[in-house]
Amino acid sequence: MVVSSRNIFEVTSEFLEKHLVQFYQLDKVELGQESWTLKNWEKSLDDTGYKLFCCLSKDEELIGFILVHSIVQMQQAHLLKIVIASPFKRLGIANKMFILAMEDLARLGVNNCYLEVGIDNFSAIALYRSLAFTILTTKKKFYKSGKSAYAMQCFFGGLPQLNLSD
Ligand SMILES: CC(C)(COP(=O)(O)OP(=O)(O)OC[C@H]1O[C@@H](n2cnc3c(N)ncnc32)[C@H](O)[C@@H]1OP(=O)(O)O)[C@@H](O)C(=O)NCCC(=O)NCCS
Repeated sequence: MVVSSRNIFEVTSEFLEKHLVQFYQLDKVELGQESWTLKNWEKSLDDTGYKLFCCLSKDEELIGFILVHSIVQMQQAHLLKIVIASPFKRLGIANKMFILAMEDLARLGVNNCYLEVGIDNFSAIALYRSLAFTILTTKKKFYKSGKSAYAMQCFFGGLPQLNLSD
């Protein structure tokens, strides 16, 4: 199954309100201890700094999402979550969602993306490396579980896939 960019779009607060439980459930299944509570998801509806993009199947099933917090004054996006449902992994969907979200943010003046990732989250680290992220530092005991994280960053100039012309 190939997902086209047409299946990926920015989520409005109305759409999120209607599908909140689906986002909450996918987050919980894929991120476990690090997932948000339903209350966290509800609060995100009021935060204008968040940008959420999702990918739906043709049956309108939630396949994945990317959530970023943009700090436009610092020209920086903070990637908070990128999640793909297990049956849809390794199809290039996370890559497509990231590029579309960053193209959108680049139009607002953002030129780099920052994130933290668990040091044992090998698939996510591989995804970020494929998107030209480099490790800045290790944050010891970053997560509630005591697990450490890498802080990583990429500058959009290093992303050949990003179309910055429009
Ligand atoms: C990390 C995650 C989002 C990747 O999503 P995905 O749609 O499977 O990733 P893509 O198919 O776009 O992969 C793009 C590239 O990333 C790398 N990559 C992704 N997953 C990988 C894996 N399991 N092993 C090795 N490389 C991997 C590869 O270079 C891949 O390109 P290729 O398939 O041509 O080799 C997904 O595994 C996931 O949802 N994990 C659980 C949630 C999570 O931990 N999110 C990150 C923290 S918020």
